[in-house]
Amino acid sequence: MSAPIMIFLGTAGSGKGTQAQKLSENLDIIHLSTGDLLREARDNKTELGKAAESYIAAGDLVPDALILDLIKESLTDPKIREKGCILDGFPRTIAQAEGLSSLLEALSISLDKVFLFDISLEETIERLGGRRICATCHRIFHIKHNPATAESHPCDGNLKIRVDDTEEKIRYRYTVYQEQTAPLIDYYRSKLVTLDASEAPDKVYETIKGQIMALEE
Ligand code: AP5
Ligand code: MG
Repeated sequence: MSAPIMIFLGTAGSGKGTQAQKLSENLDIIHLSTGDLLREARDNKTELGKAAESYIAAGDLVPDALILDLIKESLTDPKIREKGCILDGFPRTIAQAEGLSSLLEALSISLDKVFLFDISLEETIERLGGRRICATCHRIFHIKHNPATAESHPCDGNLKIRVDDTEEKIRYRYTVYQEQTAPLIDYYRSKLVTLDASEAPDKVYETIKGQIMALEE
C-alpha cells in the first residue's frame, strides 16, 4: 500500500484543520490546506494573495483556475508520494475535483478516502465564534473547548480571530458550501467515510486514524 491520499470535506468549523494538524504531526502525513496557503499568500501580498483577498474576506470561493494552479505546485512535491497527504478544504467544486483527478492521474497517484465531517450549522457557529489561531505556529485553539496552554502552545505567539469568523460570514460560507461543495458528496460516494464531527476531538481523531491504519494493512 502506498502512502495514503485523503480529502477532508466539510463545512467551515467542522474540525478539518484541527484533525489534519494532529494527524500530520503524529503520523507524519503532509497537510495541504488551500485556506492556509491562501491566507499565507494574502499576508505576504503575493499576486495570488492580492487576487484572493476579497473572496476570502467575503466568504466566497476563490476561482477554480487559481486554486488548481496552487494545488498543482504543491502536489508535485515528491514528499506527497512518500508520506501521503491530507487535502484539507480542497476540492470544493466539481471543477476542482475533476482537476484533481487529472493531476493525480498524471502523477500516477490514487485517491484513497474522502472523510466527510458532518455537523450542524448551529454547532459550527459556536465553534468558530471561539476559534483562535496562532499567528506564528498556526495551531488552532478554542477559548472553551481547546484553550491555548503552556503545554499545547509552546510558541506562545499571538492568537488571532479570522476575518471570516463573524456569525454573518459563517452563515454565508455555509450557503456557499451547500451550493458549490455539497455536490462532491455524491461525486465521491464510493470513497466516502462520514464522520460524526460533533463528537469530541479525540474520538474523531481515533476514528480517522483507525481508517488510515486499515488502509495500510
Ligand atoms: P478554509 O480555511 O478552508 O476554511 P473552511 O473550510 O471554511 O473551514 P474552517 O477552516 O473555517 O474550519 P475547519 O473545518 O478547519 O475547523 P477547525 O478545525 O479550525 O477556507 C477559507 C476561505 O479560503 C474560503 O472561504 C475561500 O474563500 C478560500 N478557499 C479555501 N480553499 C478553497 C478552495 N479549495 N476553493 C476556493 N476557495 C477556497 O475548528 C473550528 C473550531 O472548532 C476551532 O476553534 C477548534 O478548536 C474547534 N473544534 C474542532 N474540533 C472540535 C470538536 N470535535 N469539538 C469541539 N470543538 C472543536
Ligand atoms: Mg480549516
